[in-house]
Amino acid sequence: MIPQSFIQELLARVDIVDVVERYVPLKKAGANYQACCPFHSEKTPSFTVSPSKQFYHCFGCGAHGSAIGFLMEYSGLSYPDAIEELARHAGMAVPREEFSPEMAQQRKLAASLTEVMARAAQFYKQSLKKTPRAIDYLKGRGLTGEIAARFGIGYAPDDWQSLRETFDDYEAPALSECGLVIDAEPSEGQQKGRRYDRFRDRIMFPILDGRNHVIGFGGRVLDRGEPKYLNSPETPLFSKGRELYGLTQARNAIRDDGFVLVVEGYMDVVALAQFGVGNAVATLGTATTPEHIHKLFRQTDRIVFCFDGDRAGRKAAWRALESALPELNDGRVASFLFLPTEHDPDSFVREQGADRFRQLALSAQPLSEYLLHELQSRCDTRSAEGRARFVSEARPLVTKMPAGALRTQLMHLLAPAVGLSAQELAEALGLRLPRRSGRFNAPPPPAAPRVPPSTPARKLLCMLMQRPALGGRIGHLENIEDDPWLQAVQAVADSIEHGDIDTRHSAGFAEHFRDGPHGPLIDEAIAAAIEDPADEGALPHMFEDTLQHLRRTEISRAINHLTALSRQSPLSAEQQAELGRLLREKART
Ligand code: GTP
Ligand code: MN
Repeated sequence: MIPQSFIQELLARVDIVDVVERYVPLKKAGANYQACCPFHSEKTPSFTVSPSKQFYHCFGCGAHGSAIGFLMEYSGLSYPDAIEELARHAGMAVPREEFSPEMAQQRKLAASLTEVMARAAQFYKQSLKKTPRAIDYLKGRGLTGEIAARFGIGYAPDDWQSLRETFDDYEAPALSECGLVIDAEPSEGQQKGRRYDRFRDRIMFPILDGRNHVIGFGGRVLDRGEPKYLNSPETPLFSKGRELYGLTQARNAIRDDGFVLVVEGYMDVVALAQFGVGNAVATLGTATTPEHIHKLFRQTDRIVFCFDGDRAGRKAAWRALESALPELNDGRVASFLFLPTEHDPDSFVREQGADRFRQLALSAQPLSEYLLHELQSRCDTRSAEGRARFVSEARPLVTKMPAGALRTQLMHLLAPAVGLSAQELAEALGLRLPRRSGRFNAPPPPAAPRVPPSTPARKLLCMLMQRPALGGRIGHLENIEDDPWLQAVQAVADSIEHGDIDTRHSAGFAEHFRDGPHGPLIDEAIAAAIEDPADEGALPHMFEDTLQHLRRTEISRAINHLTALSRQSPLSAEQQAELGRLLREKART
């Protein structure tokens, strides 16, 4: 574990404005800074960075967090990695001795593996320069040196132990932990089998993580050969169900184009980039996972899946659809582009050009339509049996979606195919359909305000997050068991009392309570304090009033409770004392 005290110190040392500015240009707007939100696409800026709170918040999509949270969301870093990255910039060392021995071990291992991978990538790049046959192969596929350099493409020599050239200790365990070498089974009488390079005579595509570290490779044979592509195995650095090829290189283009293209192959990504379509990423020879989708929706709210038109491509598309459904919150769009069977994106863009490809991508089939057509092709809806089957196949899909406008629309789209009304279909699927007002084409009702109706307890927490120093006045609150907002207020007050947190910036609270039960409420309160701050001058007064009001209500509730009890049976001595105390309190407040 990283000690909380260090996280507090780190947050006090870095400025979130600098951190965000490294990735997103900010403009000053009053006390805050603004930009178009990097987490959803928009034309007018609603992404706000508050230097006083050390917190960012988007009015549009609700994204929010501290500098640590920003790095996690923006660069896809893990919590410890984001801290590491911030600390590095601030010239601070994350105190490692406080890690548990296993974790310290793990981090050390990861760091050494990262070094090994960087070195190997360097070596493969160098050997590409020395191997005309490999250069010719890439040229033959239409790639320029510039694109090869941009993707760090290399070549693994046709040799069993070529990595000996760059690693002094070829027998080091790290090499096999990275998946760069394979240890053969020892033959009889031997302690240890012979070790050899995993990648030989292959074009090497390095796979990067959010920090630009090489975490894995894909290697393609130059000629015919099996397997055509060889990937790094799962290692402590690399997990193919999580990673996407080309995401680091595509990040800016995704933002500029307003969508991400998901394709099947390494070469598709590289070839598209060569032709100026820079916003493509590829899964690594696996199905698209919900984790992939989640990662991509952090970058943009439009995903276009582009799969080959063949059977395998169709299958891959369906898997992608299933993974995408749970992530389809309103405002997010997934669509599907099927190329003619003889093409993949690489060959298509080469033959027809980037403009034609982009055009196709923009007119890709919306997920809802694709889902309808696919179900229709599976079930013969002319018969009652077929229609029943349609409904039962639709059930697991539709119920995976978050309730929202898209799910409602989908129900309206699917229902006619099985001769039902949307309402009937919803019932058959065990869902409730929001009641519609007005005509069929009436615009959807305005979205409910994101901010829930304010209770005094919620207000208190928001004010507290606007000026945490007020927390010193809270002391002990009565009867907080039923109200999560009050519990959060109390927790904040306690943490201030213990001196755990730097109260100058509310971001410190967000981090202190991260992952705990109060975390989401505290985040929300900070966001509200940025979006809709109370008047600074009136703040202490309002805070005091709200606190008083709360205390009075709580005291009255407790008194009522005890008096009700006393009507049933005499109160115990303790209860009587408590009642007396409460009545005195009430008289005082
Ligand atoms: P090129 O032939 O170089 O154009 O590759 P491609 O991307 O068109 O190949 P294909 O459509 O056959 O494969 C798409 C993706 O699936 C590749 O980029 C790999 O990630 C993966 N893949 C293909 N063949 C293999 C294989 O033999 N083994 C593994 N593990 N993955 C493969
Ligand atoms: Mn291809």
